[in-house]
Amino acid sequence: MSVSPVGIGLAGAGAFGEFCLAAFAEVPQVRIAAVCDTDTERVHKYALQYGVPAYTELDAMLADPAVEIVALNTPPAFHAGQGLAALHAGKHLFCEKPLAMTLAEGEALRVASVQAGKKITIDYVMRHNPLWQAAVAVRASGILGRLLHMDLANHAAGLNLPASHWFWDKSKSGGIWIEHGVHFFDVLAWVAGTNGTVTSAQAFTNAAGQEDRVEALAQYGDIAAHFYHGFTHSGRTERTRAELTFEHGFLTLEEWVPTELVITTEQATSLATLLPGSVTAEPLSDGQIRIRARLVEGKSAVYRACIQSGIRDLAHSIRNPGNDPAVTLQHGIESLRMAVEAESLGRHTPV
Ligand SMILES: NC(=O)c1ccc[n+]([C@@H]2O[C@H](COP(=O)([O-])OP(=O)(O)OC[C@H]3O[C@@H](n4cnc5c(N)ncnc54)[C@H](O)[C@@H]3O)[C@@H](O)[C@H]2O)c1
Repeated sequence: MSVSPVGIGLAGAGAFGEFCLAAFAEVPQVRIAAVCDTDTERVHKYALQYGVPAYTELDAMLADPAVEIVALNTPPAFHAGQGLAALHAGKHLFCEKPLAMTLAEGEALRVASVQAGKKITIDYVMRHNPLWQAAVAVRASGILGRLLHMDLANHAAGLNLPASHWFWDKSKSGGIWIEHGVHFFDVLAWVAGTNGTVTSAQAFTNAAGQEDRVEALAQYGDIAAHFYHGFTHSGRTERTRAELTFEHGFLTLEEWVPTELVITTEQATSLATLLPGSVTAEPLSDGQIRIRARLVEGKSAVYRACIQSGIRDLAHSIRNPGNDPAVTLQHGIESLRMAVEAESLGRHTPV
């Protein structure tokens, strides 16, 4: 029996909304049913491209019965209010991160989704990345022993964001932890297998008055963690590295949408079978072995496939109501809780 595709109405056809629309259009389990944006030029461009109605008011799109999922791609400050409106209108939510700006908003979304009997997932693309999935599998296998420390160094392309961009206005974005850090609080909780707590944090403001660097220490059970985000680089020079230190080896993921995973260890036994993509193993002169897994399709294709996996997962859970999406509302709330902790603990150092 064929299952009808689930209709998506995308709200916020901006930079990332455009990327998501192109990704959704390739997924047979969903179909783009409408586009909404307050920017009339943008909304008409994408409505024309996908042959669907254009709405400049969210409420008008919510009245459209062809829309079953609202993909919320507006700036963060709109997520809670628009998400609640969508749930009250009987729509499911594919919410861009962050789920909301405050824990009270997150709780309101939880209550509304239960009352409406509608699903929510968050576009935490890393949970759908085969290399992060492999990192989780490596930890669960126990082959490298206990996980001791997790270190994230994220030097992001802040120089590409003009001073007028909503990202720099905390009332619209929530700041780096809430707008962006939630991704990493979530993925490391998944790797650790337990929820985390932020123990200390600091923030740095640049000469233009932008809070562009933040740092935090955290713990996930008995696993130590360190997070650094700096929006100080360009698209060309940005660099991200996540390093997981185990008793018997190191696992490194390169780039924020990882396309390469490297393990250095003395315990090579059957690790390669847990890794996706193109896998190579190289003996090192000190007796260790370096195992490398690469997703040869490249960052953009991997990123798109992660978004597609997320929307496919939500569509499946809608058509099979006993199943919840892999990324749950609770994941959104837990990572938001850590972001709120980091934001409130942040000791500020103006430059
Ligand atoms: N999951 C990811 O990997 C990822 C990556 C990038 C961005 N994001 C998230 O996507 C969201 C959008 O980011 P972006 O970079 O595309 O921003 P953007 O500013 O480029 O796009 C936002 C769009 O929303 C529209 N908009 C504003 N208010 C609106 C309203 N009330 N109703 C309808 N439309 C409205 C704007 O006109 C604009 O077109 C943010 O929450 C961001 O954190 C997620």
